[in-house]
Order: sequence, then structure tokens, then C-alpha cells
Amino acid sequence: MKNYKRLLKYIKPYLGRFGLAIICIVVASGANLYLPWIIKDMIDKVLAERDMAMLNFISVSIVVVFAIRGVFYYGQSYLVSYIGQRVVVDVREVMFRKFQRMPMAYFDKHQTGETMSYLTNDVGAIQAALVDNLIEMFTEGAILIGSVVMMLYLDWKLTLLTLITVPLVGFAMKIFGKKIKSTSRVIQEKLADITSLLQESISSIRVVKSFVREKYEIERFIVENELNFRATMKNVQFTSLLTPTVEFLAALAVTLIVWFGGYEVVNGMITAGSLVAFLTYAVNLANPIKRLSRIYGRLQKAMAAVDRIFFVLDLPETVNDKPNAIELPQIKGNVSVENVTFSYDGAHNALEKVNFEVKSGQMIAFVGPSGAGKSTIANLIPRFYDVTSGAIKIDGYDIRDVKIDSLREQIGIVPQETLLFSTTVMENIRYGRLNATDEEVIAAARAANAENFILELPNGYETQIGERGLNLSGGQRQRMAIARAMLKNPQILILDEATSALDTESEKIVQAALDELMKGRTSFVIAHRLSTIFSADKIFVIDKGKICESGTHKELLALNGVYRNLYNIQFSNI
Ligand SMILES: Nc1ncnc2c1ncn2[C@@H]1O[C@H](COP(=O)(O)OP(=O)(O)OP(=O)(O)O)[C@@H](O)[C@H]1O
Ligand SMILES: [Mg+2]
Repeated sequence: MKNYKRLLKYIKPYLGRFGLAIICIVVASGANLYLPWIIKDMIDKVLAERDMAMLNFISVSIVVVFAIRGVFYYGQSYLVSYIGQRVVVDVREVMFRKFQRMPMAYFDKHQTGETMSYLTNDVGAIQAALVDNLIEMFTEGAILIGSVVMMLYLDWKLTLLTLITVPLVGFAMKIFGKKIKSTSRVIQEKLADITSLLQESISSIRVVKSFVREKYEIERFIVENELNFRATMKNVQFTSLLTPTVEFLAALAVTLIVWFGGYEVVNGMITAGSLVAFLTYAVNLANPIKRLSRIYGRLQKAMAAVDRIFFVLDLPETVNDKPNAIELPQIKGNVSVENVTFSYDGAHNALEKVNFEVKSGQMIAFVGPSGAGKSTIANLIPRFYDVTSGAIKIDGYDIRDVKIDSLREQIGIVPQETLLFSTTVMENIRYGRLNATDEEVIAAARAANAENFILELPNGYETQIGERGLNLSGGQRQRMAIARAMLKNPQILILDEATSALDTESEKIVQAALDELMKGRTSFVIAHRLSTIFSADKIFVIDKGKICESGTHKELLALNGVYRNLYNIQFSNI
């Protein structure tokens, strides 16, 4: 219920249209109420008294009433759909904003497909609820109220008798409503599972095919699909039971009317026309009750989705700006890592009491076995995660005290695998600095040793790449990433295994581009191949989350420790 009120807040900007829509609905459904009145006059006046004038009047008024009804019906459909669709668009936007702000930790724990499901399936469910249900709810509600008023006017005793069944209907709706909502929640969860599986197996189709696991994937899909079917059928069971139950109760009411109303006509207490009109209203009443019960069922279904949406919107954004965060000024690039301990899960530490200091313009390298915590350090500097204890300072500013945007704008990252967007080469590089001119983009590409291959592409810089377009090789992608970083022109640079996916030939080209990029910037380089870091100002050997050795290449060799050992392994067979 609380979430329902929150959803209604999204309607607030459209209150004007909403008011107009209500007027249209009231007028359009008011026309429906006219029909039984015609029947009454037909029976009591035209047929019983042979009143020709009345017949003419009735004929003209039918045409007029339905013409008016048509106009307002159009207004009602258009306006309600407008509001519903607007709300859906707004909710979708709010969710998208939320996901853009969510901390890295969220994306570590949740599958892409699950996240996508919120935006597609759950938003889709409220779309159905709002657009279709809102129209029906108000129309049927108006007809319901109008019918009751007319019935009271025609015969209030009979009306009260009829309305005895209403609490029963309410009771049935409440019981079924709960079941429908809980089963709907399961459906939405199962839908998210299907979307996750879909996303995963399609985006990893290379792995699937290389292991010839198509059959396995199909079987996995069948299982999820089947689970979704079962959850849906459970829901269908309750929604399908709700309508007949309510209808049966309505039939009871009609029976009451037929008997007592008939009794009243026989005894001359009301006219035959009145009873027929009354019955028509009562049947009219049964329709909205039946439909409202169905709407109620669908609404419960949608509320399950709404609950999920608000659950996501309420998730904490653990890494965000402090209220008094300041803009980080143009930095020199002095970095100090002070007593930093960090844990991803709160259980075991990925980094423990790490201390080091880097001067502006220096090149720092991290080496060490897999899982040692090298990438973790690289993740903490742009504040993808917050340190558990200790502090990271840039030019003396604790990075938690400055605005995240102003921090990340000054840090460039070249990851092991570069993701490109499905747009042109030009736009992909421009992602590094959105307001860069074409000339600046081209200069960056040249500096990154990327110009050669770009010019050989079918449309040069305007070639479409990524998802649907042409694919680039690993080395070409890395050079695109370097060009992006060049364009961004950050004072601090992080290269996490930027060349490790490449063969020696393209590694040379990429390394040359990287050397160019690192000039004059504080650079953190993570590398498995020691040859790329011989020239580092300082090398840190990380093991099990701790710095175990540090020094220049020469100093570390002389130490005869872990580094020497790594060196011997890599260069023993040369
Ligand atoms: N997103 C994450 N969530 C939870 N634990 C993580 C996450 N990323 C890394 N870890 C854990 O933290 C530890 C350090 O990982 P990290 O990625 O920093 O290692 P690494 O030194 O970069 O290794 P590699 O050379 O293989 O890239 C590992 O034990 C790893 O399992
Ligand atoms: Mg790593």
C-alpha cells in the first residue's frame, strides 16, 4: 500500500490531464447509465401508453447520447494512456539513473540479466497495470457508482437488499488478492531468471559454441522456462478462481432482485418498467464488479512488480558524494595509500595494511601472483569501492572528501579488455572526452598508434564497430582504449594488464603507445610480463593482499626474494 502511494506520486506531474480524464470518464460512463432509462420509458410509456412523441424523443436522444459518449470515450482513452505511458517512461528513466549510480559492488553480485529484467519485465508489468487498468478502473468505478445511485432512486429497499452481497465480494477479493500478489512476485523473479540466463548464454555464445554446449544451454533454458510456466499457472489458478467466485455472488444478488422485485411488481408497488430498468442496472452492476475484481487481480500482479522496483530504487548507494564533498582541483598526481585494508565481502581481506607513496609523474608497477590484490588496488584509486579502513589521498585530498566525478575525470584506465560501443570509431574514441573535436580525436588516435589500422577500415573513422558492426582485434581494441585515455588526458593512469591479452608483435606496438601515454603522468601498471615494467620508478610485489617487496627492478633482483624468483621463472628459458 505504501508503495502504491509512492507510485501515485509519479502521476502528480500530470494531475491536470488526470482531472480532464476523470471528467471524460464520468461523462462517457454516464451515457451507459442512460440505456436502462430508455428501456423503462419504452415499457412504461411507449408500449403501455402508446406514446408516439416519447418514441421520437427516445430515438433522437439515443443518437445524441452516443455521439457525445464517443467524443468523451476518445478523450478518456487518449488521456489515460498518455498518463500511463508517461509514468512508465518516467519510472524507467528513474531506474536507469539509479543503475548508473549504483556502486560497483552491486554489479559484482547481480547478473546483468537480472538488472535488465527490472527495466523490461517489471516496468512492463506496471505499464500494463497503469494503462489498461486505470481506464477500466475508473470507467467501471463510475458505472458502478452511477448504477447504485439510479437503483436507489428507483427502489431503495430493493437496492439495500442487493448490496448485502457486497461485503462477501470484498472478502473474496481480499483473500484472492493476497495469493495473486505473492504468486506474481514469484513470476517476476522467474522472469528475471530467464532474462539472466538469456543474457548470459547469448553474450557468451562463443564459449557455448566452443565447448559445444548448445544442448546444455537449451536444457538449462527449458528448466527455467518450465519454472516460469509453473509459477504463472499458479497465479492463473487464483486469478481464474476470483472471477467466477465474484460472479456467483453476483448471481445470488440477481436472484434476490428477481424474487423481491417480482413480488413488488405483482403487488403493484413498482411498475414493470422500473423493475426491468432496475434489473438492467443490477446486471450493469455485476459487470463492473466482475471487471473490478479482474482489475484488482491484475493490480496485485503489478504491485508485485512495483514492490520490486521500489526495492531497487531504495538500495543504498554505498559509494556516493558526501554532502559537503568538494570539487577536486586539477591535480599534480601525488598519490599516497595509507594503511589501507579492504574487503569485498566483509569476511576476508583482499588488501591488508597497504602503505605506499607515489610522486607526480612516477611509474609504479604491481606484480605478484594471481588473486594477490593488484587489481583491487587499481579499483580503489578511482573509488570504485571504498576502503574498509585507512585512506587514499591524492595531492593530500582524501578521495572520500571530493566529488566522485571530479576524481574520476582525472584518472584514465586502460583495462585488460576494452569494451567498445556499437557506434563509429570516431565516437568510440571521443568517449574519452565528449567535447573533443574531430581533429583532437584523430591526434589521439595517431598518438596511440591506431591511425594506421583505422584508415584501413572500410569507412575509416566513420566505420561502425562493436555489437553489430565489424569487430576489431585485441591489439586494435587496446589502441582504441589508449586513444580514449590520451583524449581524456588524465594526470593519473591505471593500466591493468593492458597488454597481457596480446601476442608479442602487437604488444610491442601497444607498448609503444602506452609509453607515449604514460609520459608525464602518474602511472600504475599491473603486469604479468616483467619485461614491460623494468623501467618503473618503483615496483611493488604483492602477495596475499600485502606488499612483500618494493624497489626498482635492480634493487629487487639484488634482494633475491619473490621478485627474483618470478624473474627467473619468466626468463629461465630464454
Ligand atoms: N568483485 C569482487 N568481489 C569479491 N571478491 C573479489 C572481487 N574481485 C576480486 N576479489 C577477490 O579479491 C582478491 C584479490 O583479487 P584481485 O582481482 O585484486 O587479484 P589480482 O592480483 O588482480 O589477480 P590477477 O593477477 O589474477 O588479476 C582475490 O581473492 C579475489 O577473489
Ligand atoms: Mg587483476
